[in-house]
Amino acid sequence: MKTQDLSEFASGMEYDAQYDKHYEDDIALIKKHITAMGARSLLDVCCGTGIVTIPVAKVLDYAVGIDIAEGMLKQAKHKAHQANNLYFLQLDATQFSLDKRFDIAIMTGNAFQAFLSDEMLVGVLNSISNHLDKGGRFIFDTRLSTPDNLEIDAEMSLWQTYQLPDKGEVKYMGMSERYDAETAILYLKKVRDYQDGTTVHSSIDLKYRKLCEIEVFLAKAGLRVTEKYSSWAEGEFTANSNNLICVAEKL
Ligand SMILES: C[S@@+](CC[C@H](N)C(=O)[O-])C[C@H]1O[C@@H](n2cnc3c(N)ncnc32)[C@H](O)[C@@H]1O
Repeated sequence: MKTQDLSEFASGMEYDAQYDKHYEDDIALIKKHITAMGARSLLDVCCGTGIVTIPVAKVLDYAVGIDIAEGMLKQAKHKAHQANNLYFLQLDATQFSLDKRFDIAIMTGNAFQAFLSDEMLVGVLNSISNHLDKGGRFIFDTRLSTPDNLEIDAEMSLWQTYQLPDKGEVKYMGMSERYDAETAILYLKKVRDYQDGTTVHSSIDLKYRKLCEIEVFLAKAGLRVTEKYSSWAEGEFTANSNNLICVAEKL
């Protein structure tokens, strides 16, 4: 199975510099479900640098984060070195087997779009479902295949500037370069310009799916959708929503 282009995820330190501050609502909604269920354990699939895993583990007995990218896990382990209820493992989410079950599984940061083929998505959802007890919840987000999300850019534009402790300000530019309608994969190009004159190129390929298709895949894995939002702040989900935040229950 062809894995997503992982060049974006080489440095966990850089990922945190860009995204660390953007997860307040995700964490709040996940904690709300933890409280509602009286959950004690959590599995974070595609956990990255543990931006979500680390704060939510504080209200749990234990949490496990899995990810395929070494650079992301290195940063997660560094940040969590004092926690004794938190484990980060390098595993492929499409085929993993731990001898544990969890009350909640999560997948944030639109990592759901990393699974480029149906075969990969089936592998991920079955693996997640196998690690949940009946009544356990799977909470995740993804962009949907709406016209807004699939627009192609004519040229690169500045998407963000952020600060790195050792390198100063970074200019982060990107564009949606090509959409393959047959595979529903969008190809994005990114460039980072550093103050020392260095330029780093990266790319990422993202799978776009429709809600009805996602629901069928979830159902086949024994997961029933119970809540849908358009944002982690529990925005109303409508037929035109570009983003899906989904809560599913293990049957
Ligand atoms: C956009 S990041 C999200 C990270 C984290 N969930 C967050 O919200 O910050 C996507 C993550 O998915 C991971 N990933 C992609 N394909 C994977 C696979 N097959 N198995 C495990 N992790 C994978 C990447 O390494 C990356 O850390």
